[in-house]
Formats: sequence, structure tokens, C-alpha cells
Amino acid sequence: MCAALIRPAHDGEGAAIARIHDACWRDTYTGMVSEAVIAGSQLSDREAMWLRILAVPPERRCAHVAEVGGRIVGCAWGDPEESGDPLYRAELLGLYLLRDYRGRGLGRALLGAAAGSLRAQGHPNLLLWALADNTAACGFYRALGGALVYERAGDMRGFPIREVAFGWPDSRVLIRNAG
Ligand SMILES: CC(C)(COP(=O)(O)OP(=O)(O)OC[C@H]1O[C@@H](n2cnc3c(N)ncnc32)[C@H](O)[C@@H]1OP(=O)(O)O)[C@@H](O)C(=O)NCCC(=O)NCCS
Repeated sequence: MCAALIRPAHDGEGAAIARIHDACWRDTYTGMVSEAVIAGSQLSDREAMWLRILAVPPERRCAHVAEVGGRIVGCAWGDPEESGDPLYRAELLGLYLLRDYRGRGLGRALLGAAAGSLRAQGHPNLLLWALADNTAACGFYRALGGALVYERAGDMRGFPIREVAFGWPDSRVLIRNAG
């Protein structure tokens, strides 16, 4: 398999990233949430979301892709934390890899790249929310030193879910381990 490149997303890549995001999202959550939630997910919504993300100037954006052989195979994005959390200043909003590219260090590298750009923008720590039932992702976050910091009940398009938050009080841990 070709070597992987982790890099910032480029302007104009929104549609390509949205397709990967959509495919990974369906693959990850099928069987974990109701079939109606999966069926209700629209590629056009993801395209619109990625257009919004890439409309932010690069120096204020946190959006990274994993590329293998010229093809985007995964993505990660984040933002300043918006709920006013007393400690955590930045939030990872998504991290997805196509199935064939998991388990070879790309998730660690994408998470480190996202933590790095958020830190460069002045956010020294990182929080993320995951579905409690997504035990593989939770295992991955724990393996990378994330501490379980919050739990909450939520809903995904009307389907009740339980979410857990992992936090890194100092995101340098993630950045150092990404390489
Ligand atoms: C979660 C995900 C991003 C992880 O990326 P990945 O490339 O598969 O993981 P990596 O190969 O970078 O693993 C990094 C470390 O985490 C560990 N790890 C990975 N998955 C794990 C698991 N399920 N349980 C315990 N540890 C795990 C690895 O062993 C590795 O540690 P090591 O280097 O000491 O061996 C990826 O599997 C994925 O896209 N999953 C589907 C989408 C998803 O669930 N996203 C998260 C939404 S919140």
C-alpha cells in the first residue's frame, strides 16, 4: 500500500471529503443507531457542511485529510469549544477513516494534526464527544491517553443516544504521539 500523507484540507475539496465522511459515517453507525437515522442522512448536508468549513480562512480552520495514493481516505475536523466548557477550549468534531485504512496509525496521525492546528490557534487542550456504543472509537481514544470526562444523554435525529466525552488537558500529548 502507498505511503499516507496527513495534510490540511484544501479549498475546493469539500465535495470529495463529504463523500468520504458520508461513507465512513454510514459504515460506522449502521447497526449502532436506528435504520431511520442512517436513511435520513443526506450527502448534500455533508457537502454543505464541508463548504462551510472550507469557507473559513486556512489560519482559523481545523480540517485535515489522510491521503493515500492521491485519494482522500479519511478526515478530521474541529473548532473552538462552543458550550463554554470551563476547561476545554477546543473540540474535535469528527474523525473518520475508510475501513480499509484503519488500524495503521492514520487515526492517531489525523487526531494529532487536528490537535496541532487547534493548539496553534491558541487552544491548549482538547475535548471530543463519541457515542458510548462506539466501543472501538472509545478504545482508540483511551489508548491515546484520553480521559473520560463527561457523559450525557442526547439524540441523533430523534433517536436517543448516550454520549461520552474524552478530554486531553494538554493536547501536546496527542501532537507528540502523532508522528
Ligand atoms: C477510530 C479511528 C479514527 C481510529 O483510527 P485508526 O487509524 O484505526 O487507529 P490507529 O491505527 O491510529 O490506532 C492508534 C492507537 O490506538 C489503538 N487502538 C485503535 N483502535 C483501538 C480499539 N478499538 N481499542 C483499543 N485500542 C485501539 C491502536 O492499537 C493504536 O495503539 P498502538 O499504536 O499503541 O498500537 C478509526 O478506526 C475509524 O475511522 N473508525 C470509524 C469511525 C469512528 O468511529 N470515528 C470516531 C467517531 S467519534
